[in-house]
Amino acid sequence: MKTIITGGAGFIGSNYVYYMLERYPDEQFICVDKLTYAGSLENLEAALNNENFKFIKGDIADRDLMYRIFKEEKPDVIINFAAESHVDRSVVDPDIFLQTNIIGTGVLLDACRIYGITRFHQVSTDEVYGDLPLDRPDLFFTEETPIHTSSPYSASKASADLLVLAYHRTFKLPVTISRCSNNYGPYQFPEKLIPLMIANALKDKQLPVYGKGENVRDWLYVKDHCEAIDLIVRKGTVGEVYNIGGHNERTNLEVVKIILKELGKSEDLISFVTDRPGHDRRYAIDPTKISNGLGWRPTTLFDEGIKMTIKWYLDNEAWLQNIISGDYQKYYERMYGSR
Ligand code: NAD
Ligand code: DAU
Repeated sequence: MKTIITGGAGFIGSNYVYYMLERYPDEQFICVDKLTYAGSLENLEAALNNENFKFIKGDIADRDLMYRIFKEEKPDVIINFAAESHVDRSVVDPDIFLQTNIIGTGVLLDACRIYGITRFHQVSTDEVYGDLPLDRPDLFFTEETPIHTSSPYSASKASADLLVLAYHRTFKLPVTISRCSNNYGPYQFPEKLIPLMIANALKDKQLPVYGKGENVRDWLYVKDHCEAIDLIVRKGTVGEVYNIGGHNERTNLEVVKIILKELGKSEDLISFVTDRPGHDRRYAIDPTKISNGLGWRPTTLFDEGIKMTIKWYLDNEAWLQNIISGDYQKYYERMYGSR
């Protein structure tokens, strides 16, 4: 079997590449990635010499290139991780989110239709469901929860999901979609909450918590997400959406305090800053469908996963320094400078 993994040089995609190479030593994997600010070949260093792995630099919205890749490589399965993924960036510059997340997905779907595949899997997000109130812990996102987006990022991901489902209905394309909650783990770019707080705490810089830090996210260790996607691709029902989450809700302030405690740093580093516009209050996944239907269960508890993640950042300080010493400084100044 030959699988194209788009966006495989980013956070979840690179974890997926490693997961798959280890699990399926007889299969072929091709990563197609544009290498934006969020993607790096450094993330794939340990895969590049594997004879079952190939890297192709390319933009999923580049129709000619995608058709050429499909024609030459004849993939069986496409897993689309490629996306602009950061909500705050989508507030400042929505355009690239429409281009990559919607147009790019459309190009891949057309390539699948023309050249034929056995499965197209879209890696989507729980953000397509909007948010839940903080005072209703009894409510969860199910696959039937209406799409109700808040940010240009989530609107672009929801648009892509609708395209994927339309290609299934109209062209009978064999698709599946997964909608996962917040991931954490190795290789996450330090613009996202957990790695940003680790990076700042290590330098004794202020930790910018939006609003009062009361917003709730449902955290899942990245390897559990990878396992769920693989299960859906191999055993899931074509045309279906599967929610992925492990019932691990925490307020942002709780998460930040855990990181400070683990690193032995003072809570005085916490700085409450102006809230994100349109900030979603709470995400919480009901994973009943994937649990009952496919037997998926997360295996990494948050207490253990956050320790492993912090250790990874400590052990890979060069990786982190490489990122935060470049253009990242400009990004940080733009986002947090006068906040
Ligand atoms: P990321 O930003 O770390 O990585 C995205 C990757 O896509 C990068 O390697 C980047 O170079 C590549 N890319 C961007 N534009 C591209 C283009 N036009 N053509 C080819 N490659 C391109 O993102 P992530 O956090 O790893 O998320 C991966 C996917 O999972 C996204 O689709 C995201 O919406 C989804 N998701 C993320 C989370 C999370 O918590 N991070 C949770 C649920 C779903
Ligand atoms: O739920 C899945 C989504 O999770 C994915 O689809 C997105 O790609 C991914 O980026 C993530 O979105 P969030 O907006 O939830 O993640 P982020 O890490 O940006 O923020 C998590 C929470 O922390 C959110 O409530 C905002 C808050 N936050 C974030 C940053 C970067 C802060 O308080 N301070 C910060 O500096």
